Amino acid sequence: MTEAPVTIFVCVSCRRSLGDAEESFDQPGHGLVDMLNARLRNGGQTSVTVTPVECLAVCKRPCTVALAGADKWTYLIGDLDPDTHAEEIVAAALSFAASENGIVPWRERPASFRKGVIARVPPISFSEAVQS
Ligand code: FES
Repeated sequence: MTEAPVTIFVCVSCRRSLGDAEESFDQPGHGLVDMLNARLRNGGQTSVTVTPVECLAVCKRPCTVALAGADKWTYLIGDLDPDTHAEEIVAAALSFAASENGIVPWRERPASFRKGVIARVPPISFSEAVQS
């Protein structure tokens, strides 16, 4: 199966608290971008692009990423840890890329994807009659 190109947008602005002090935080999105790129490169994956972004408007659930691709539903996923979830994010992106419309069956979603989904947004081309 040919995988359609997809993008993992990674928020690099999210602040992860490292203690009680307001100025005690890091911005783990930068590290996540590096880890995802390394895993994709090592796996020879060329269908997935990693793009840093400033904010995905889910600032209280770092790290936050969005999976997007042409004619696919876009998924917004939060609560991701660069140290433990990079492999799962890559797996989710590959499943997303292989899917017809971006909707990955529940059983095929890594745990962090299942737990962290914040929203899904239909593609601009989407049209389906909704019964009321
Ligand atoms: S700063 Fe990361 S979602 Fe807003």
